[in-house]
Amino acid sequence: MELYHGNIVYARTKDELTEHADSYIGVENGIVEGIWPVLPEKYAGLPVTDFGEDVIIPAFTDLHVHAPQYPQRALHMDILLNEWLNTYVFPLEEKYADPAFAHAVYDAFLDDLVKHGTMHAVIFGTIHRESTGYLVERMEERGLYGYVSKVNMDTDSPADLCEDTKESLLETERFLDQYRNNRTAKPLLAPRFAPTCSWELLTGLGKLAKKYGVGVQTHLVESLWEATESVRRYPECGSDTAIYEKAGLLGYGPFFGAHFIYPTPDDIRVMKKYNGWAIQCPEATVNVIAGIMSTAALSDEGIKLGIGSDIAGGHTPAIYTQIAKAVQFSKIKAFYEPEMNRAIPFAQAFYMGTKQSGSAFGNVGSLEPGYAFDALVIGGVQDPFQKLSPAQSVERFCCLGESSNIHARYLNGKRIG
Ligand code: GUN
Ligand code: FE
Repeated sequence: MELYHGNIVYARTKDELTEHADSYIGVENGIVEGIWPVLPEKYAGLPVTDFGEDVIIPAFTDLHVHAPQYPQRALHMDILLNEWLNTYVFPLEEKYADPAFAHAVYDAFLDDLVKHGTMHAVIFGTIHRESTGYLVERMEERGLYGYVSKVNMDTDSPADLCEDTKESLLETERFLDQYRNNRTAKPLLAPRFAPTCSWELLTGLGKLAKKYGVGVQTHLVESLWEATESVRRYPECGSDTAIYEKAGLLGYGPFFGAHFIYPTPDDIRVMKKYNGWAIQCPEATVNVIAGIMSTAALSDEGIKLGIGSDIAGGHTPAIYTQIAKAVQFSKIKAFYEPEMNRAIPFAQAFYMGTKQSGSAFGNVGSLEPGYAFDALVIGGVQDPFQKLSPAQSVERFCCLGESSNIHARYLNGKRIG
């Protein structure tokens, strides 16, 4: 049994932060055993790691991030989504045909995720199986939880990224086969988005989803252009999200829909039917001038929400920053469209970036008994003017914290980083 002392904060539900000030947390075989204000008799005499005034919180989960776009983070944010992809993103992704380039970027990317306290992530690679495989292997080796995708795109893409449909399906099947028995870093399908995927590709991926029992991630109704273009291509499907349903891709594993900014009732129907995550990437969709998710309205609809950095749409891998921005942007939404929207409380955004996103990986993202001790110890946010409660410290950390405010990191009960 490992024992830690400090302040402990997590979000059990979207409605409030649970706070245990000046308490002990016990971890057995990497799993939280309990939290106690006074150390139970049976543990007296065991060593305790004391974090003093610092706050122990769950590690973060990033439900939507493009590892290959890491070199371009916080650059080139001056144009709309479609132009941005063609001008900046696609030329960068072409470089991953070179495994040496991929290895260097992916090592740096994973170091930066961990530095910022993200231990679980749903990741887009590129079309390149070998380069993407390297990312899976490094995550598995480090024990980081991941769903990682070799991307599929076979139409309306630049020549060097436009796959032959049959080759794309063959390479994807090899990728699934290679990594399907992994322990923590698992393969996932990723038709990039409807504008770059043929029907033959989508239905072929549907067959693989069924055969291998794997899930899927894609971009859904991200911008007005994308929402219109998807339905123009596949009018018989009825909505952007229904394209994946009709192609037979849904129902075999988790379903991750990034952005979900302009859903129609039919998009919402499909999302609910397959219990998918609608993932808010607050920085990204503002950066590419796509819009802002109606977070509160979707939550009221009963849709499962998550948070993503969407690097390089977003500037930073710091999910704590995205949590703070999810709250801010919900206020902008409420201001401009008050009939449909309201501000979300901090607790809800924190829940989205920890327990709700983490549920994609099982019992991670909380510190309740039975959850993996994937945790961060944060501090350095107090000031001399008042004593912040542990929950206030967490809020301030998310709003103005940096990676230097993370004083320790644990993954499955082991200290890392
Ligand atoms: N839609 C299709 N590809 C992308 C991408 O790489 N980033 C974002 N934000 N949206 C996309
Ligand atoms: Fe994206």
